[in-house]
Amino acid sequence: MGVFDSGVGGLTVLRALARALPGEDFLYLGDTARLPYGTKSPESIRRYALQAAALLRERGVKCLVVACNTASAVALDELAAEFAPVPVLGVVEPGAAAACAATRSGHIAVVATESTVRGGAYQSAIHRRRPDATVASRACPLFVALAEEGWTDGPVVEAVIHRYLDDLFATDAAAHPDTLVLGCTHFPVLAPAIRKVLGNGVAIVDSAETTAAALAEVLDAATLRRPAGEPGGRIELMATDSAERFARVGGTFLGRPLVPADVEVVDL
Ligand code: DGL
Repeated sequence: MGVFDSGVGGLTVLRALARALPGEDFLYLGDTARLPYGTKSPESIRRYALQAAALLRERGVKCLVVACNTASAVALDELAAEFAPVPVLGVVEPGAAAACAATRSGHIAVVATESTVRGGAYQSAIHRRRPDATVASRACPLFVALAEEGWTDGPVVEAVIHRYLDDLFATDAAAHPDTLVLGCTHFPVLAPAIRKVLGNGVAIVDSAETTAAALAEVLDAATLRRPAGEPGGRIELMATDSAERFARVGGTFLGRPLVPADVEVVDL
């Protein structure tokens, strides 16, 4: 299974996939040399995503998961067309499904990178499922920097969360979002701090678990699931820049310590 992200954030998705599909092997590529994608033009994001996915295809993956929200939002159609018949799955549709399952009021807030917000992919995906929903979006680029820095709590983090989220939630009670979609790979590590700022009245959803469920369905539909009894569960990691930094920062996202020797550095 190929899993691609602009950097280490997609390891949150990899963690959920590996837990849900323990019999599969995973090959993860983080394009750390070109992170962030979230501030780049759609043309650059498409070019980068196609190059990264091409490397995974050369390595023989049977399915591609685009763990990066920005690449999913901007380049999924191109990737799917380029890689057919290899199935390509993004994280925006599963994230939208999770939001629609969580909301009661139909008022949903989405936080993501600039490019994801600009393209409106979450709004479209939510409205396809629930046309009456209201969707308020906010680009939160500093969340990426905080997560990369390992700053996941404390006064600075809370001040940034307030700065980005206060007016999204400063509506009258009738229009108050009851669901917040973390539409970026990096944001789940900030979820406890976001919860502290927002309180318990807002459901916080990310797409990792629903993507894992969607991937299982894709594998079954394409009869690509590895037969029970065959050995699996290997995770190989690749990055386009420093193995040392990938290992140091990536451990927070994968949920277990990494060392540089775990990471192969590749050129695209
Ligand atoms: N992986 C990106 C995303 O999920 C966040 C980091 C970036 O901007 O490249 O949107």
